[in-house]
Amino acid sequence: MDGLDALKAKYLTAVANVADEAGLEDLRVAALGKKGEISALMSGLGKMEPDQRKAAGAMLNVLKDEIDAALRAKKAALGDAALNERLRSEWLDVTMPARPRRVGSIHPVSQVMEELTAIFADMGFAVAEGPQVESDWYNFDALNIPPEHPARQEHDTFFMNRAEGDDRPPHVLRTHTSPVQIRAMTAQGAPIRVIAPGRVYRMDMDQTHTPMFHQVEGLAIDRNISMANLKWTLEEFCRAFFEVPSVELRFRASHFPFTEPSAEVDIRCSWEGGQLKIGQGDKWMEILGSGMVHPKVLAAAGVNAAEWQGFAFGMGIDRIAMLKYGIPDLRAFFESDLRWLRHYGFAALDMPDLAGGLSA
Ligand code: PHE
Repeated sequence: MDGLDALKAKYLTAVANVADEAGLEDLRVAALGKKGEISALMSGLGKMEPDQRKAAGAMLNVLKDEIDAALRAKKAALGDAALNERLRSEWLDVTMPARPRRVGSIHPVSQVMEELTAIFADMGFAVAEGPQVESDWYNFDALNIPPEHPARQEHDTFFMNRAEGDDRPPHVLRTHTSPVQIRAMTAQGAPIRVIAPGRVYRMDMDQTHTPMFHQVEGLAIDRNISMANLKWTLEEFCRAFFEVPSVELRFRASHFPFTEPSAEVDIRCSWEGGQLKIGQGDKWMEILGSGMVHPKVLAAAGVNAAEWQGFAFGMGIDRIAMLKYGIPDLRAFFESDLRWLRHYGFAALDMPDLAGGLSA
């Protein structure tokens, strides 16, 4: 057993010098594996005399344990080194300023819908919805626009086709968001406070009209809601929406079949140097139609007009988006031109909220 010291020196040196875990594993197999050198010596013990075997066995076991311990220690050291190397190479300076990357952009109409929803939500209005393909009852009759009423012609309605032989009146692409008044009151009754933003359709096309555009309907019904509440609500809305300290609104007597009395509302503004300013100047810009909900409209939605009353308004979303963000041509809104979207769009992760600033 004289060779044991040499064997020990050989393996301990090899273990000390090995550079990676694969090399270390080769050494383990060479020494302690089933056919390894130490294992071979162990199996030679069987042929020895009992007292010789005892001494040699003890020495071999010590050697085996020493080599095993050296292998384990080296393995742990190599593992640490690998981890340290990884930590060093994957190091990253988390204090570096972020490089903002635009992931698409939010269309001004979507942005404005989010903004006005935030403002009206703050005043206690919930969001209601209705279909864009609407029955003529919801779009017209229930809103006090009977078939022979001239307002039906003024709306330049798109009609859907009925199947051949089906004589019922055709469905229409809704010409305004007002049918959502009927749907919301029918579903929820009174009192109610809702806005209904969405798409509407009329056959019209020029610099300020597109066949599809967006409106937001407002509806507030309670026991004693008046025009004064309407005026305050609209002023609050305009101030918050246009992000100015004060606005001035002008109510002009008007006519809508579904409101009585009715008013169109203008906002004071100026166009000095081609730049629109809201809240000052000597120009007036029409921004919406409104009025007190007609008793017949309440009745059509199953609300008792002797008990409940309130206001409604309808406002063009694209129009107020153009005003607020200085966008000159409405048609470009719907042309899906990426250059236009990049120019007028909003960062995708900046949700408008009242506390954080609407368009900040
Ligand atoms: N529906 C009307 C329009 O499209 C606007 C409106 C809504 C007017 C509600 C009064 C009340 O022109």
